[in-house]
Amino acid sequence: MLHIPLFFLFLQYPLIQAGGYLELRLKSAFPLNATVEITEGIYFPTNKRTYSMPLVPDETRILTNIPVRFRHPGTVLVNSGPVEKFGLEYETIRSERWNTIQMTIGPDEIHLPFTGFRIDIKCDRNWYGAYCDQFCNADVAKTINRRCTDSGTLGCPDHYYGPNCDKLINHNWRKCQCQNGGFCVSSFSRHPDPTFKVVKDQLICECPLGFEGLKCEKESYEYAEPITVEMFGRDHKWDNLQQFYNRSLVENELRDLDRF
Ligand SMILES: *[C@@H]1O[C@H](CO)[C@@H](O)[C@H](O)[C@H]1NC(C)=O
Ligand SMILES: *[C@@H]1O[C@H](CO)[C@@H](O)[C@H](O)[C@H]1NC(C)=O
Repeated sequence: MLHIPLFFLFLQYPLIQAGGYLELRLKSAFPLNATVEITEGIYFPTNKRTYSMPLVPDETRILTNIPVRFRHPGTVLVNSGPVEKFGLEYETIRSERWNTIQMTIGPDEIHLPFTGFRIDIKCDRNWYGAYCDQFCNADVAKTINRRCTDSGTLGCPDHYYGPNCDKLINHNWRKCQCQNGGFCVSSFSRHPDPTFKVVKDQLICECPLGFEGLKCEKESYEYAEPITVEMFGRDHKWDNLQQFYNRSLVENELRDLDRF
């Protein structure tokens, strides 16, 4: 039997700072000396970080642990460098976001020379919520047969609910009818008064990225502009480059990480 006060012990804020990071994946069909520029802000970029990302055909390169500021806008700019074969001086992929939250940016299609492009903004370990500012110690939770929910509250392991987490969730229950791929889980709500003895668990929907609402029925407000791709040519007619641009659209191989 779980002793309730234990709950509050590790729901308290630790002294380390909340946060998350940006991860960028790139894949190319050609050797490239790509560069990546990551800034805070859009019109008045600050804290610019530049990375060089040499690419070889069909190998995914990953930049990770790039600090981001949540609740603030930001920009990622990828520059391909030249591809002589196409008369391409350089191609840029620009991705702007107005509000930095936990998110994935992975369009269905991407322009050659790139064959894969994906940005993930993720929470540091033990941090949860859209802004990665809700703390829940996943290891401690596990030792007492609990798990951390998406929003950083404690809940029962998947498929279970109840004060002792020994009752099976029926996913067909009315209060469980999560839409758009949402998943029904239990969550013990936080009570502001630590001497409060009864903590009742409730069933909530954990929504996939891009959906919100009690039943994941709402599409999240478009938090990221679609990416913009621009090509620049040297000694080439604008028309040729436009033709190449029109034919260079390929399936984004990094759209779903599990698929490839
Ligand atoms: C990348 O840069 C290196 C060093 O400047 C150069 O030798 C190489 O040819 C470049 N590769 C491509 C694909 O541009
Ligand atoms: C490229 O595609 C656009 C839109 O489909 C079309 O209007 C344009 O004529 C095409 N350009 C060339 C050079 O093929």
